[in-house]
Amino acid sequence: MKTLRQIIKEAEDKGVAVGHFNISNLEGVHAIYKAAQKLEVPVIIGVSEGEEDFVGTAEIASVVLAMRERDQYPLFLNADHHASFESVKNCIDAGFDSVIIDAAKLSFEENVKITKQCVDYAKKVNLETGRDILVEGELGYIGSGSNIKDTIPEGAGILTKVDEAKKFVEMTGIDMLAPSVGSIHGLIKTGKPHINAELVKEIREAAGVPLVLHGGSGLRDEDFTNAIASGISIVHINTEIRVAFDEALKKSLAEHPDEIAPYKILEPAVDAVEKVVEDRLKLFNGIK
Ligand code: G3H
Ligand code: ZN
Repeated sequence: MKTLRQIIKEAEDKGVAVGHFNISNLEGVHAIYKAAQKLEVPVIIGVSEGEEDFVGTAEIASVVLAMRERDQYPLFLNADHHASFESVKNCIDAGFDSVIIDAAKLSFEENVKITKQCVDYAKKVNLETGRDILVEGELGYIGSGSNIKDTIPEGAGILTKVDEAKKFVEMTGIDMLAPSVGSIHGLIKTGKPHINAELVKEIREAAGVPLVLHGGSGLRDEDFTNAIASGISIVHINTEIRVAFDEALKKSLAEHPDEIAPYKILEPAVDAVEKVVEDRLKLFNGIK
């Protein structure tokens, strides 16, 4: 079985990106996995702290790892946007493949300190167990909340500086970096900012580690393709699949008010999520 590190390297060599999709229930896992299997591409399941609390840390790790083992399929689990060392450690201990320490709101020095603490712990576990846990750090403003926003939040124009990115990677030893290159978490009613592909390229060259694009929902297709061609290796999508799930579930409940079997009520929602994920995976993997 290939590790996530190998899968990311292969994606970069091929000029494609690995899709990362958030879930908060088993239905989400099934929908994402079905889409990835259909296209025969690797995929990462992500849980933020809130999503993880809802689904259960040990529960989601057991499910994803068991599915991977059973099918020998490149299916991975990421702790998305975890804000403390304790929450990162908890996910590493539970068997997650990768973690994101989200300390971008802190000062540069504080961000370095807590990120390095997470890297050191992951390295220690890797040495002791032979695992290959990856740590992603964040630098710059990419907003918060996979929800629907009226306007682009303030701060969206503050992009990651190339020299700071280089310094941050050197000082922390992270495996991957989430820079601010124009995207913002959530779907924005008045339109999304553009990705600065030139900046992606410069940061990738200077930082020397794979880059992760956050806030993928609502971006134009050409923003994704330009960003991937410029050095993005993983793309995160959450809000779009939340919207698909929500709309399909409401419709299902409205159309079948007497239905009480959860698996029947939820089936259209799973299908709707699968469709969104399939379309995004096609784009990220250059599949027509
Ligand atoms: O970490 C999660 C992603 O960055 C999701 O962003 O809700 O805009 O798709 P999104
Ligand atoms: Zn994100």
